[in-house]
Amino acid sequence: SNIGVIFDLDGVIVDTAKYHFLAWKKLADSLGFEFTETHNELLKGVSRVRSLEILLEVGNKTITEAQKQAFLVSKNEDYLEFITKMTADEILPGVNKLLNYLDEAGIKYVLGSASKNAPLILKQVGLYNRFAAIVDGNSVTKAKPDPEVFLLGAEKMHIKPEHCVVFEDAIAGIEAAKNAGMFAIGVGDKKTLHKADYNVNNLTEISERFFETLMTLN
Ligand code: G6P
Ligand code: MG
Repeated sequence: SNIGVIFDLDGVIVDTAKYHFLAWKKLADSLGFEFTETHNELLKGVSRVRSLEILLEVGNKTITEAQKQAFLVSKNEDYLEFITKMTADEILPGVNKLLNYLDEAGIKYVLGSASKNAPLILKQVGLYNRFAAIVDGNSVTKAKPDPEVFLLGAEKMHIKPEHCVVFEDAIAGIEAAKNAGMFAIGVGDKKTLHKADYNVNNLTEISERFFETLMTLN
């Protein structure tokens, strides 16, 4: 096929945002400030280090570099407690059906995530071997909205960026896709993701016709 698909992980394939939230909230609690789900929106799609910086801004806290490193480790330990219990039941609606369709149609797809835990999560839910490549927080240096993660994904598929379709649930992720010159599909709240080229509430709303049309356009 002449098109390729790139999937974000957290919030698109699985709903791990709730586990990130619980782990960050635990840290905020221990530092003595309130951290809400609204604050958590700011952390979506953003790297672990940047997430901690935003959290500390929310709590108006200044800490030493050593404390920062320690918090990054303890937050991830708390997060791992949740994700090591994950099963295939936590794959979001429409994901399996869409991957099956892409396989049948011979359309390549890769993962494009900021998470260093991406391989572990994919193994937990049994999707690790389905992607042509996994581009994640271990293989890129520049965080979304930088296009690096998606450009590398396109390269892995040998597909031109302008022929790539990206599924994203984060504002930073939609921006990264647009910065890469790709077609960006916002998964989630349409108002929040208004910079996307197309919006859906979840992947059940993507029909086979959708890809057939995209392929005829290219
Ligand atoms: C994704 C999530 C973020 C998370 C980041 C890093 O982009 O949306 O909330 O902070 O990955 O994840 P990690 O698993 O490496 O801490
Ligand atoms: Mg996401």
